[in-house]
Amino acid sequence: MNLKINKFSIKLNQLQNGKEIIHWTVNKNMTNLFNSHAWKYSKCIENKGFSFNKEEILNILSKQDIDEAFLNISKWQNYKPTPLLLLNKLSKQLNLDKIYYKDESKRFDLKSFKALGGAYAVEKVAKKKKDIIVSSATAGNHGRSVAWGAKKLGLKCKIFISEYVSEERGKVMENLGAEVIKVKGGYENSLIECIKQSSKNNWEIIQDVAWNDYLLIPKLTMAGYSVMMKEITDQINKEEITHIILQAGVGGMAAAMVAGIARYLNNIPTIIVVEPDSAACVMESIKNGKIKKINILKESLMGGLSTNEVSLVPWQILKKSINYCISLPDDDIAKTMKLLACASFSQNKIIAGENSTPGIISLIAICNDEKMKKKINIKSDSKVLLIGCEGDTDEKMYQKLLKQ
Ligand SMILES: Cc1ncc(COP(=O)(O)O)c(C=O)c1O
Repeated sequence: MNLKINKFSIKLNQLQNGKEIIHWTVNKNMTNLFNSHAWKYSKCIENKGFSFNKEEILNILSKQDIDEAFLNISKWQNYKPTPLLLLNKLSKQLNLDKIYYKDESKRFDLKSFKALGGAYAVEKVAKKKKDIIVSSATAGNHGRSVAWGAKKLGLKCKIFISEYVSEERGKVMENLGAEVIKVKGGYENSLIECIKQSSKNNWEIIQDVAWNDYLLIPKLTMAGYSVMMKEITDQINKEEITHIILQAGVGGMAAAMVAGIARYLNNIPTIIVVEPDSAACVMESIKNGKIKKINILKESLMGGLSTNEVSLVPWQILKKSINYCISLPDDDIAKTMKLLACASFSQNKIIAGENSTPGIISLIAICNDEKMKKKINIKSDSKVLLIGCEGDTDEKMYQKLLKQ
């Protein structure tokens, strides 16, 4: 017998050892989506300075940069497009037409889209200058890409990590041949130390963050990331994406995807940037119409997104091209990872790390809020694109969160 009680679907089964056994059905997961105590966003703001301009965007990250990145990266050994999955069970629950999920857990053996950026920048720099030593500061995934790119070319590599980057993430980079240097404090301190030591020793900094006189290499990493949008364009086969939700740390990935939209798509989807509420530096900058540095009081579980300032090149692209910024607490991360892992959202079991979850969380949170849903114009014919930017890049953390 199936009962509907308090929005939970339960199944009463036969007596076993004299006791009535209650089986929670799979529906429990799905009806939970509409439990008002969960799936909440913290803040959502509209970008008053929105004015999407393809030409302006492609003046910052050019068509040539984007095309050259695809031409080079698609020739790398073992290159193949990562899957574009359909979260068909979730779209049914939310009454949306389609939810696409770009599954970057399958990106080479590095399990994140970051493989496309740092390694590509290393390759481009090494073509101009021989016998270099490369260096970088990282929350994990970017450094892994730099270390991998250096290894492919037989270059020495120095990676700086903050005290908050896990042992596991450090080990992966050491296994790729990098020397990993731990720095006290957060990401910013690791970057300052990287710049200091690299200037002293003449190492080539391969950073995904731009500053006033350091623009070229961050642009190359973004050009690498834009390969995702090229693949998606081929995979959607002329379907029109109506909304895209992009997670942001320093904004490189989000801006690269926006540049990819300008380069490859005919229509312009509604663009939403999502960040942890403890590190919503893009949102703060959009609110103020200029780059605003924030104080991170507590590091988010979404370590790749826990940054205090949007990077310069991404900002030039994002400031006029995103429609909304949304911020989230960490509360629903582990639950989302579990639901992805047990195929509750799609036909496929999906391995998704912490940084892959905010797109799904914010989409459900928006759909739970009728006013917001209407404002963002999410409805039954919407086709939403989410970026599953990483798999279990920190295997220990992944297992721990799945057990929660
Ligand atoms: C897995 C993952 N996703 C997303 C991001 C955010 O990218 P960006 O800092 O370019 O905004 C990062 C950054 O490290 C990351 O590691």
